[in-house]
Amino acid sequence: MAAAPCGLLLVLLLLASKWNLRLHANRPSNVLPLLCVVLTEIATSEDSLDAIKTLRDEAVARLNQLGKTSDSKEFLERTFLSPAAIRAGKLVQEWMQDAGLDTWMDDIGNIHGRADGANASAPALLMGSHLDTVIDAGKYDGALGIVSAIAAVKMLNSNGKLRSYVRPIEIIAFCDEEGVRFQSTFLGSAAVAGVLRPDILSIRDRSGVTLETSLKTRSFKGTRDSLVQLRYSPESVWGYVEVHIEQGPVLEARGIPLGLVEAIAGQTRLKVRLHGAQGHAGTVPMAMRKDPMPGAAQAIVSVEKLCRDSPTLARVPGGGRLVCTVGEIFSWPGASNVIPGEQVAFTIDLRATDDSLREEIVGEVEESIRSICRGRGLSCTIDKMHEAKAVGCDKDLMASLKAAAESTVLEVPGGGGVDAPAADDLVPSLMSGAGHDAMAMSHLTKIGMLFVRCKGGISHSPAESVSDDDVLASSLSLLHFLNNHLEHEQPAPI
Ligand code: GLV
Ligand code: MN
Ligand code: MN
Repeated sequence: MAAAPCGLLLVLLLLASKWNLRLHANRPSNVLPLLCVVLTEIATSEDSLDAIKTLRDEAVARLNQLGKTSDSKEFLERTFLSPAAIRAGKLVQEWMQDAGLDTWMDDIGNIHGRADGANASAPALLMGSHLDTVIDAGKYDGALGIVSAIAAVKMLNSNGKLRSYVRPIEIIAFCDEEGVRFQSTFLGSAAVAGVLRPDILSIRDRSGVTLETSLKTRSFKGTRDSLVQLRYSPESVWGYVEVHIEQGPVLEARGIPLGLVEAIAGQTRLKVRLHGAQGHAGTVPMAMRKDPMPGAAQAIVSVEKLCRDSPTLARVPGGGRLVCTVGEIFSWPGASNVIPGEQVAFTIDLRATDDSLREEIVGEVEESIRSICRGRGLSCTIDKMHEAKAVGCDKDLMASLKAAAESTVLEVPGGGGVDAPAADDLVPSLMSGAGHDAMAMSHLTKIGMLFVRCKGGISHSPAESVSDDDVLASSLSLLHFLNNHLEHEQPAPI
């Protein structure tokens, strides 16, 4: 099978030098193994160069385009149902159609693209990630998983394998993973997995708009029923696969483009509100104030101390990798000459690989904040905005993704190739401290994830960066996974 494409490769290389085509101008020695593998993937295609264009160049261009689809002119911001989120959804829908998928937007704003394959009623293979971003975001978090999946499926389609695939393939671009707008993360994937909180429609964003109103304003039904109907039945789904940037430094330090996710840390998000007495900054003596701002400051320092030094941490090896962050603080009315007695509010995000440890620390944090409020004569409320247990990836899916990633690592520029580390180290296994849609999807079906190297391990920042060749690694690993699955999996009996 591979001999004919590699013969064709020689012809192509001759033509490439004649036409001065420079696919890898900086790394000519990497062209041969890469093109060779791509040719083996697309033996039925007219033009093998299209594979590089689709898996790398087009994917990179699309990531750049999404990176400019923002609600702010100065930085990238695309939160749940914002104008930029709607524009981004339309782009993704066009790209899914271009890949041969039938598309639709569901009643919470997720974009779906599906091909039924040879058996429309077989359990579907789902792939995806999220379209929303944090504020002042990088352009790869979420978008890479969507764009890579579309690139891989587009290749499958151009190879003529999509329509005859053993099972339906569906890509979902989820509308909310970051939880920036409503603090309640995974709105899109939790709806598909059927695990949205019962009171979800009444949660409010910072300006007091409920989720229900935000949906109705965008012409969605915005009823409990319409959200319940988004749930997929477990029987209709085979598994969920997500590729995501690592958001940490391990892969870069190891010089490897891809990693295999073993498990995802559990997380709790709290919203703390402290109330005192509003007043004039120049007239109320210090001893007569009920000022929630210093109370909030003391509470925040106590959160840091507990998450570093609580004796409870010693109970679990490595302290369960507990991390706590206060990322948002808000004061009302928020003026320099007003004691902000009405309200000072802040968020706490706690994560750990060990659920019971996380729950114990959440208890300690709540008790500490309440005691600070009592000592200062303040009232306070602490609301749990989000909770997700740690999730393990499926062993069989991990094995398939690992095999696909190993082939990819050996083939792509920057993957290591013959200089790669020992075979058992080719694709390291990693824990994810970040949350992913796969967490919500684990309530519906088995999950598997690959991580892609990012520069400096930086994420949730405009400095987030993935090389073009690592975008190729991302798309190609999914293509290998899809092809391997095609060869080895039989559809479940109907
Ligand atoms: C998502 O990026 C999260 O882990 O907060
Ligand atoms: Mn993400
Ligand atoms: Mn993120």
